[in-house]
Amino acid sequence: MLLLLLACEPDPGDPLVYAFPEGFRWGAAGAAHQIEGGNTKNNWFQFETLPEFDGKTAEPSGAAVDGYARYEDDADLLVELGADIYRLSIEWSRVEPARDVWDEAEWQHYRDVLEALRARGIEPMVTLHHFTEPIWMQDLADLDCAAGPTDANLCGWTNPAVPEEFAEFSGEAAARFGDLVDEWSTFNEPGGYLLSGYLGGAFPPGQLNISVSAVTEQVIPVAVGMLNGHAAAYAAVHAADVADADGNGVAASVGFTNSIQWIVPVDEANADDVVAADRIRALYGYIFSDGVISGLLDRDLDGVPEEAHPEWANTCDLLGYQYYFRMYVKALPGFPPIDAVPCEASTLEILGMDPATFGCPTPHPDDVTQMGYEHYAPGLGLLAPALAERYPGTPLRVTEAGIGTTTGRRRAENIVRQLAGLSGAIDAGAPVDGYIHWSLTDNFEWAEGFRPRFGLWSVDLDTFARSPTEGADVLRGIIADNGIRQSVWDEYGQGEHLSPGE
Ligand code: BGC
Repeated sequence: MLLLLLACEPDPGDPLVYAFPEGFRWGAAGAAHQIEGGNTKNNWFQFETLPEFDGKTAEPSGAAVDGYARYEDDADLLVELGADIYRLSIEWSRVEPARDVWDEAEWQHYRDVLEALRARGIEPMVTLHHFTEPIWMQDLADLDCAAGPTDANLCGWTNPAVPEEFAEFSGEAAARFGDLVDEWSTFNEPGGYLLSGYLGGAFPPGQLNISVSAVTEQVIPVAVGMLNGHAAAYAAVHAADVADADGNGVAASVGFTNSIQWIVPVDEANADDVVAADRIRALYGYIFSDGVISGLLDRDLDGVPEEAHPEWANTCDLLGYQYYFRMYVKALPGFPPIDAVPCEASTLEILGMDPATFGCPTPHPDDVTQMGYEHYAPGLGLLAPALAERYPGTPLRVTEAGIGTTTGRRRAENIVRQLAGLSGAIDAGAPVDGYIHWSLTDNFEWAEGFRPRFGLWSVDLDTFARSPTEGADVLRGIIADNGIRQSVWDEYGQGEHLSPGE
């Protein structure tokens, strides 16, 4: 008892230099296909294994990090961290391997996972679509769908049956798990899904087509299908989840999680670069949130949403935002689809452009992460007021932030420096109620395979043993203190750049 009291005493020699509000939520995240292993019924499995997509992924997901079997151990790690939220996804292709066929054993598996979390006092935040979808929704082996949709291949989001199927699955999950889950998100990073899938080709269905027609004929129609799916799923989840699992008076909160980087013009003084950055930001970061919050679509991609869709409006109870890097943008008149080029290594590589001769700033080498992009700590905090201003009244949560690195110290610096900025934004009034780190353990990083390491716990890919990184140790302390102490700030917060390391 004495020890406990002493632990709660403020330490005058080591005060909090950044404090989070009382009740601030802390967590970590994972996603089914990235951790479970053995997912063979979804589009990513096809993308990893079909010969026509050879070279698109560094390696197949295979057994991933054996998360399907190790969910109890992973739930224990969350307890060790002191987290109160785990953000996870339900793999749609497991519970509905064929259209309108439920797999009861798989539903039971997810009940077991959710119960294991609840039993440990961890609140699950459930994502219904984290990049993967059942093969029957869009069969990559029959992409052109020449024979038209069938039950075995619905041909993707532009078929109105797909949003309906997504809503059915979402409603079913809510009906089955409403007693355990209060927080739902429909889509993870729909902007990334759309642009990587239909413009950059790095995600299924692997369409590499940098053109105006790719946007008008693919990106926008698919976005409209997904927005319809979101609105229908929002209604279905609210109708089905009427049980208040945690007793806080809210049975269901439904939103989505948005990838929104810190996007800036290469030259602030150049009006064309400024417009180019606005356009990229709107296309990448706002296309979905403008739809589900304001009921607007920027169909002509001029950066200003104008097409009214009242049927989508006000269907986002919580906007999750996910931040990883600073992206510079340069105007390039005539360059499709929107006269703008992002200075991002993988994009420039696809375009065959040399970043230096093109005029992109060169990031300091210590700030380049395993993903090739530039770590920029202030972005996490800077985004909060920008989102709050665009979407007044919508509660915000950081649902992903993290760094691809094998160097524990870099992960710890990422956490401390980004959280310092976030704390400042919250003090200045941004309505951010929590921080969920990406990710709990190392996992399958999509097209990049297993090389980039995002885990607070690193995973030995032969034995699947989990070991804490310096990031886990530092985040555990911050959660316990609900803030950053002077000693932690002195150790990890200083320095213009990250420490060197991979
Ligand atoms: C995604 C995760 C991914 C992470 C790191 C986010 O875009 O939601 O699935 O692993 O970023 O790249």
